[in-house]
Amino acid sequence: MKNVFEGLLFGSKRSDKMPRIETEELAKQYVDEQIKLIREQVGDGKVLLALSGGVDSSVCAALLIKAIGKRLVCVHVNHGLLRKGEPEQVIEVFRNQMNANLIYVDGVERFLTKLEGVAEPETKRKIIGAEFIRVFEEEARKLKDVRFLGQGTIYPDILESEKGVKAHHNVGGLPEDLKFELVEPVKLLFKDEVRVVGKVLGLPDNMVYRQPFPGPGLGVRCLGAITRDRLEAVRESDAILREEFAKAGLAGKVWQYFTIVPDFKSTGISDGKRTYAYPVIIRAVNTRDAMSATVEEIPYALLKVIVSRITSEVKGVNRVVYDLTPKPSGTIEWE
Ligand code: XMP
Repeated sequence: MKNVFEGLLFGSKRSDKMPRIETEELAKQYVDEQIKLIREQVGDGKVLLALSGGVDSSVCAALLIKAIGKRLVCVHVNHGLLRKGEPEQVIEVFRNQMNANLIYVDGVERFLTKLEGVAEPETKRKIIGAEFIRVFEEEARKLKDVRFLGQGTIYPDILESEKGVKAHHNVGGLPEDLKFELVEPVKLLFKDEVRVVGKVLGLPDNMVYRQPFPGPGLGVRCLGAITRDRLEAVRESDAILREEFAKAGLAGKVWQYFTIVPDFKSTGISDGKRTYAYPVIIRAVNTRDAMSATVEEIPYALLKVIVSRITSEVKGVNRVVYDLTPKPSGTIEWE
């Protein structure tokens, strides 16, 4: 039987004849056709890929692993701003389950040292982005025989870069002398299609249906100059929120939910003694395109459980507040 995607997966424009990938069967056909194309493009060459653990880079990696196995070199950079359990999951899924060639770079100290004392949000973002490129460049230079760069570019990235909204290169900004030919096996797919393809490639649900997570990670949720104690408080409170949302069946329903720790303290009381500690702010929003957002009406009973767990389990925290502000006037993130 002829593959429905044959002759449709070239260039940067999606053909009108290309069906929307909504079923497992179509996703399987897409995977088969893409494997053929990747092998044609790469031959016996090697591909380098920055694997963040996000949906797009994970699906891109899983496709490339199917097509060329260990000739895909994945680099996972831990910048110290990932959520609880994320680096461990990337290693478990890709190195242990998929047998991938995975380089894990522990950049925690390096990133946090660079960020010490930096309070301005955009400067924080720039430092994280620039340091990420530097770490990736160092790894790329160690591997002398790699000609290709895999990227989890998806179709909205292409449409937005055409409109001039943003540059679509995930690893844009590499120095001129590091020239790679791009391999972008999901670039004609919309996000929902990427997820269906990820499912048939065997990626776990919490990777495939993951909520959006900013590139600078928890760095923009640990407000002002990042300190290790507050960063830990963000990570631990975020983990509790995710756990309780999952238990309550809200995980797949609410678009984005997370916690923030500001850089000021307030007075509280614990075991009859005065405390002076950080608050945790909860954010939970629904949106279509992140341009505007409404606040999720979390049931009071669930809020109570979350408040109780955060104030008793997270060190250095004595208060929890829920941000009731839609976008506008607030943005989704606080920085
Ligand atoms: P705002 O805060 O602008 O966020 O309402 C809209 C969406 O974008 C995400 N976001 C980012 N994603 N790098 C990213 O990759 C960033 O610097 C960044 N800042 C915000 C945010 O999480 C929300 O989903």
